[in-house]
Amino acid sequence: MAETIRIPNVTLPAEGRVRRVMANGTPVALFHIGAEYYAIDARCTHVGGPLDRGMVQDGHVTCPLHGSMFDVKTGKVLRGPAARDVSAYRVHVEDTTLVLER
Ligand code: FES
Repeated sequence: MAETIRIPNVTLPAEGRVRRVMANGTPVALFHIGAEYYAIDARCTHVGGPLDRGMVQDGHVTCPLHGSMFDVKTGKVLRGPAARDVSAYRVHVEDTTLVLER
């Protein structure tokens, strides 16, 4: 069954940027790319690097610690050393409330 997490009073990232938000105690990287928002777990599956501090380019984020690359839409690993995908969320914005589903 899908999990829905509502986060009120969120400051959304500017276009092309990423922000960390907390979803029930889990850090999530929220991306704003084009007209859309995308969210993936912010902890890199290699050794926990902060993906919300990674470089974002062409819909990919690069972990600042050892360079693993993830697709911000799906959470899939595109380049190691990470070997496991990160969780991805569906994102809705309702006024100032961020709604994440996975
Ligand atoms: S912690 Fe992300 S690549 Fe190592």
